[in-house]
Amino acid sequence: MDLLFQLPTRIRFGFGVSALAGAETRALGAARALVITDPGVRGAGLLDGVLASLSTAGIEHAIFDQVSGNPRDHECVAAAELGRAVGAQAVVAVGGGSPMDTAKTAAALLTNGGTPQDWEAPALLEHDPLPIVAIPTTSGTGSEVTFYAVVTDTARKFKMSLLDTRIAPRVALVDPDLTMTMPPSVTASTGMDALTHAVESYTGNLANPIADALAKEAIRLVALHLETAVNDGHNRDARSGMMMASLLAGMAFGNTDVAAVHCLAEAIGGRYDTPHGVANSVFLPHVFAHNAEAFPARHAEVAAALGIDVGDMPDEIAAWKATEFISNLARAVGIPAFRDLRGADPTDFPDLAEASKRNVSDPSNRRTYEVADYLMILERAWGA
Ligand SMILES: [Fe+2]
Repeated sequence: MDLLFQLPTRIRFGFGVSALAGAETRALGAARALVITDPGVRGAGLLDGVLASLSTAGIEHAIFDQVSGNPRDHECVAAAELGRAVGAQAVVAVGGGSPMDTAKTAAALLTNGGTPQDWEAPALLEHDPLPIVAIPTTSGTGSEVTFYAVVTDTARKFKMSLLDTRIAPRVALVDPDLTMTMPPSVTASTGMDALTHAVESYTGNLANPIADALAKEAIRLVALHLETAVNDGHNRDARSGMMMASLLAGMAFGNTDVAAVHCLAEAIGGRYDTPHGVANSVFLPHVFAHNAEAFPARHAEVAAALGIDVGDMPDEIAAWKATEFISNLARAVGIPAFRDLRGADPTDFPDLAEASKRNVSDPSNRRTYEVADYLMILERAWGA
């Protein structure tokens, strides 16, 4: 079988690499940059070193910091308008998935015009977007190396996707230093997002041996480091391990896809504005268990990657142990129950199941889900 694996992003990883922002942006040929971030990142002082680096390299910059937790279509349009007004030649994203996805979308709008809806997948861009330097401040999204941007369509209350290899950042500066002050709840939810990316890549329909190697190592690192990163945020090994996990998982699922967990998570994120990692975490054990019934061997391999001693136990038992491990991990790091999420209401389940089925990643789930299957998972997660 032919295998296509793409990684257009130049990656620099390590404590302190965010100080290379100026030099790397300059190397892209840009003299003026649009910096995209959110108020939390800016307030935490995480932007300061990046801005100093841009100034040292002689790069003029304007800052757009009005990005929401689940970025909105109109925020991407506003960011692009600012970029156009200042003549930006590159976009520098500093933050979690939301600023990075806003940056990808704005970079596309800056050269293609229109609104995010005009370039919704499966549409491809007409022109190359502006080059992006991505500097993640959380360990979960992997957006610094993926070709996707997920944006909330505010009219449809639906998380839509842009998908084009050219919106992958040209440079990713992956600096664990920027995660050292991340609060425990954000560390937990973003870490569970990274785990979901790796598990969905590995167990999904589009898995391939290159992505599998990356996903298995990401799963191993999350199992090893997430609890420590949540409970002891100053632990450099744990922070570095989680950031590597997020990066590897992003490289994997960027080339495969996510699947039913993300279909459900994006449905409830679009409706209730639930933090993305929390939404994934609520559904991951239930989707994993349901998928494992159909494909036990593949799911037993996830158990081994999690560090469970599977010995010669039957695949079904190993997969069940992985489900239990994932549930326990979510609880241990303080992920709330589905029924405790703000706004969550079972009368919405039929609509949420329909929205999940409409998600572009639905066909990537190895076990086929009908609307009724999504409904069953919603009900199981509610009762958990
Ligand atoms: Fe995700």
